[in-house]
Amino acid sequence: MKIIVATKNANKIREIREIFSPLGFEVVSQTEAGIDIDVEETGDTFEKNALIKARAVSLVCDDYVLADDSGLCVEALDGRPGVYSARYAGEGASDSDKITKLLGEMQGVDNRRAKFMTSVAFIMSDGTELVTSGEVCGRILLQPEGENGFGYDPVFFSDELGKSFAVATPEEKNSVSHRSRALRALYVKLKQLEETEQ
Ligand code: IMP
Repeated sequence: MKIIVATKNANKIREIREIFSPLGFEVVSQTEAGIDIDVEETGDTFEKNALIKARAVSLVCDDYVLADDSGLCVEALDGRPGVYSARYAGEGASDSDKITKLLGEMQGVDNRRAKFMTSVAFIMSDGTELVTSGEVCGRILLQPEGENGFGYDPVFFSDELGKSFAVATPEEKNSVSHRSRALRALYVKLKQLEETEQ
């Protein structure tokens, strides 16, 4: 099955491909499919934003479309940056700008609990919509550790892995990540749908 992923984020495409390709899906990026649209993420939840992105791409193609919306929710910051994780340090800010801003806000804060959250929206060619979510818990480190991954990975210490997401290998991150959990839940839903249709 061919799936178009509604994102221009190369890191996300890579992670989605690593998880979905072994399950037998051909994962094609929006750019590879020649679809050049930018969608404004106006929703106040990950689920709403994932649906906004998937619907926009689904309108201009006949293939199955998948979109994810994800972010980091920090307990001491009342869940921020949350759906604003990409724009937390302003439009076009680098990953290191975002990390610097986060560590600044967290200076002197004892409660460092945080979680990454993802919602994945999947739209089939007949218009059927499926939405799943995943999360992974951890804490915000005092300083960045590791070079792997992207975004906030260097300051996110995963409880389950016992190391930062940027120290973890891609396989280790995928074994527990918010995105892989949402994608695996989607895979289970797709399988259930397939079975009920047989
Ligand atoms: P969006 O889902 O493209 O709106 O943006 C999500 C933002 O959250 C990204 O730009 C990253 O800064 C951050 N983010 C999402 N998933 C991850 C992850 O797996 N590791 C690190 N940062 C992430």
